[in-house]
Amino acid sequence: MHSSQQLSVLVTGGSGYAGQFLVHALANAHKVHYTYGTRQLASAPSSAVAHKVDLATGEGLREAFEQTVFHAVVNCAAISQPGVCESAPEAARAVNVPNHLIDCILRQEQEKGVRAALIHFSTDQVYDGSHAMWKEDDQCGPVNVYGKSKLEAEQCIVSRLPEAFPVAILRSSIIYGPPPPEPVGRALFLQFVASAVRGAQPTTFFDDEWRSPVYVRDLERLVGRLITTAAEAAAGEARAAGAGPGGPADGPWRHRVFNAGGPERLSRADMARQVADALGCGHGAIASASAASINRGVASPADISMDVSRLAAELGFRTTPFREALREIFPPPAQGQ
Ligand SMILES: NC(=O)c1ccc[n+]([C@@H]2O[C@H](COP(=O)([O-])OP(=O)(O)OC[C@H]3O[C@@H](n4cnc5c(N)ncnc54)[C@H](OP(=O)(O)O)[C@@H]3O)[C@@H](O)[C@H]2O)c1
Repeated sequence: MHSSQQLSVLVTGGSGYAGQFLVHALANAHKVHYTYGTRQLASAPSSAVAHKVDLATGEGLREAFEQTVFHAVVNCAAISQPGVCESAPEAARAVNVPNHLIDCILRQEQEKGVRAALIHFSTDQVYDGSHAMWKEDDQCGPVNVYGKSKLEAEQCIVSRLPEAFPVAILRSSIIYGPPPPEPVGRALFLQFVASAVRGAQPTTFFDDEWRSPVYVRDLERLVGRLITTAAEAAAGEARAAGAGPGGPADGPWRHRVFNAGGPERLSRADMARQVADALGCGHGAIASASAASINRGVASPADISMDVSRLAAELGFRTTPFREALREIFPPPAQGQ
């Protein structure tokens, strides 16, 4: 992987919410390929290459790796709805634990000599929710099938890829932002909240379930930066090995886990109030209640707010406060309108 050449980047799950934003953002700097399961993107940049895959079997993925050498892989594919995972645990595991992807990454290195960097999206739901502001080295203890499958995914990646591979595991909180270019076939967090707080009838928001929601634009910047730093480090290693002048670059991250959340601990009721403020619609439609008051059919950890100081300390990366991002997403009407 060399910083001076155009990099080939594969975004798996490119048709999902985060994936669509990443495909568009990364295509500004790199040659982007993306995978989809059921929804090929009509709106993807014309330079982007689509691959239809079934990640449960690896079908389509092997062919993508045979056709192209990837310098970086961003794994956004998942069965990401906890309720769906709970009712179909084996199907969730088959997609969420990326064994076929790891097979392809290992085979690429063996057959083509190119070690792809892997940026893998995990979740805050690997934590059990029993305290506030989780750190990456805290003991994990997922309480539902989704969290268990995502923790198993992390363990699969770390155990199967040798340490020489650049691997960044991003434990993402709730991802919010504008609507994606194309619908994703499920309710979106921020759009649901915005519609509820504008509604005529009250909607219940839990005041005892805390998260550190993360702005999708921050994830675009973070993934872009991780790809660039991995490329620079690989170029430095190649120079050090005699392929050119210069010395080794610092290996910035090898098998590193990062909490990828916003900078705050917010309850769902806090988030609803901030959305209502951004929309200027008052708090009349927000009814606060305890999470225990509603049976959602799937266990949900109470407090999985995250300490995101590792991102700042090791990558110099800061995420955007919720209120600030909302101002960007819902700009106030221009004067005189
Ligand atoms: N969204 C959040 O708030 C959130 C919070 C924490 C962590 N995360 C994690 O962040 C990542 C991205 O989340 P997201 O919300 O963008 O996900 P998403 O919108 O649910 O998208 C999931 C993607 O996975 C693909 N996929 C699912 N099953 C597949 C299969 N069998 N074969 C091929 N592709 C398959 C889907 O393809 P098709 O749609 O084309 O079928 C889609 O592109 C996931 O790893 C998720 O666990 C998300």
